[in-house]
Amino acid sequence: MDFYDLIRNRESVRDYNPNRTIDEVILNRILNAGRLAPSASNRQPWTFLLVSSKEKLEEVRACYKKSWFQQAPHILIIIGDKTKSWIRSYDGYNSIETDLAIAMDHIILAAEYENIGTCWIEEYDFKILSNAISLKENEVIFAITPLGYQNKGYQKHGNKKRKPLEEIIKII
Ligand SMILES: Cc1cc2nc3c(=O)[nH]c(=O)nc-3n(C[C@H](O)[C@H](O)[C@H](O)COP(=O)(O)O)c2cc1C
Repeated sequence: MDFYDLIRNRESVRDYNPNRTIDEVILNRILNAGRLAPSASNRQPWTFLLVSSKEKLEEVRACYKKSWFQQAPHILIIIGDKTKSWIRSYDGYNSIETDLAIAMDHIILAAEYENIGTCWIEEYDFKILSNAISLKENEVIFAITPLGYQNKGYQKHGNKKRKPLEEIIKII
């Protein structure tokens, strides 16, 4: 698929077929795209936690009550270790959130390439999620996404609502 078509076509998917899991080979290809993502000083301060077991899915699903989220056969949680990420010496800025966001974006685009739906989710209950995965003190989560095929008959919206380029570009 053409790269720009892929960018145009990707949409947040809020419809998952609970009965169709993703083949391990495909999952590995997608997660490998995240592995190859850039990070500040190449620290790679992340773990890609893929929740696929029935028991863990049940626990994790409780963090976001939307019905479509309950249907996802896999949930990916990108965990960062803020003691491993790069820190700017001038002011102590920690690049962890940026690093994790880039990895997640690589994964989301790779999933689109594999015809697998994703939806970046931030509106989860952090307490429930961190308990479910036994998050450690030095670890952080900024985003999670379901991974799964859409139900039969699912159609993309096909209308990207975005500000026009003229509005967001400044050339000085
Ligand atoms: C940082 C971030 C957080 C988001 N959190 C949620 C969320 O909690 N629930 C949800 O349904 N969608 C969430 N989204 C998806 C956005 O609503 C969606 O990306 C945006 O409306 C653009 O639509 P598109 O992804 O279909 O192009 C989030 C997206 C981003 C980037």
